[in-house]
Amino acid sequence: MNKPEQSTDSHTLTAAGNVSFRNEHPAAGDNREEVLAGLQQAQKVINPKYFYDKKGSQLFDRITRLPEYYPTRTEIEILTRHGQEISEACEKGCLFIEPGSGSCEKARLLLNDLQPSAYVPVDISADFLLQAAIQLGKEYPWLAVRAVCADFNNSWSFVDDLPAGKRVVFYPGSTIGNLEPDNALRFLKRVRAMVGTEGGVLIGVDLHKSSTRLNAAYNDAQGITAEFNRNVLSCLNGLLDAEFDPETFAHHAFYNNEKRRIEMHLVSEKAQTVRCNGSHIEFDEGETIHTENSYKYTLEEFTALAAKAGLRLERSWLDDEELFSVHYLSAT
Ligand code: SAH
Ligand code: AVI
Repeated sequence: MNKPEQSTDSHTLTAAGNVSFRNEHPAAGDNREEVLAGLQQAQKVINPKYFYDKKGSQLFDRITRLPEYYPTRTEIEILTRHGQEISEACEKGCLFIEPGSGSCEKARLLLNDLQPSAYVPVDISADFLLQAAIQLGKEYPWLAVRAVCADFNNSWSFVDDLPAGKRVVFYPGSTIGNLEPDNALRFLKRVRAMVGTEGGVLIGVDLHKSSTRLNAAYNDAQGITAEFNRNVLSCLNGLLDAEFDPETFAHHAFYNNEKRRIEMHLVSEKAQTVRCNGSHIEFDEGETIHTENSYKYTLEEFTALAAKAGLRLERSWLDDEELFSVHYLSAT
């Protein structure tokens, strides 16, 4: 890996000839109060963005290849099968912005058809993002990669030299499902403002379906999802100077049919007190920390959500089993 060079803009590094990296990650201390407040609620809760340190991102990548985890495979099949139509909807030469870009694997499927003026991966997982951006820049030497490490729930700044022209936000993976419905609406409204009236949104949304299929996807036989879930406690140990022992917590994931969401929890296997940033967090045996929701939408629900955000559904693409959906929305 080339050694990144500092540019004149103090937040931005030039990581390789065609790759820059802007770091707007909140300082560790900025999050402490939010995390502690969540652990002090009657139902203890952690925001799922804390899953993604480097190890969490690597574990998520392993999840995407599990036989039970159909969303990634299915969305890749949709993007591959309909790549040309999808690229036409987005328009060749657009500025392509991906919040929550992870390994950038799905963008790769569209880049050749799309020939974007620049690709802007945005992710909270700094080291993983930097590596992914550098790797992508090597594979696509013609592509301007303008990475930003930021929390996509906050506003962030782009690098200074972004090309003008049509903006398309790419938000695959059903990452929108990890936002509570009111946050999902807020997020889509901000995205609409970011792309402007000429812009568009290409978004992947997982669909409501039988709880058997969903429960299997979040309870894989190899236990990788369990490891991903428990790893959030190691992330908190680093962030909060805490002393969680992940091995004393069990993974619990189930489809809440009424709320149309997978809930992931960590169940304390014993009564315990955990030191956490100078405070003490008490757990009864069997008490849980709610670590993630993954909302599943019907097509009608998602269309209504998009419309509320001022985004009109132009095209939808589904797999044959109608497990997953990809939509092109325009900012009307
Ligand atoms: N887009 C990829 C990865 C999805 S996983 C795909 O479809 O496969 C979700 C990604 O969002 C992870 O890479 C995680 O690090 C990132 N992420 C989660 N919460 C975030 C937040 N609040 N701000 C920025 N990135 C976030
Ligand atoms: C990133 N996100 C859309 C995944 C999901 O399916 O909600 C995260 C995940 N959690 C457990 N498995 C995968």
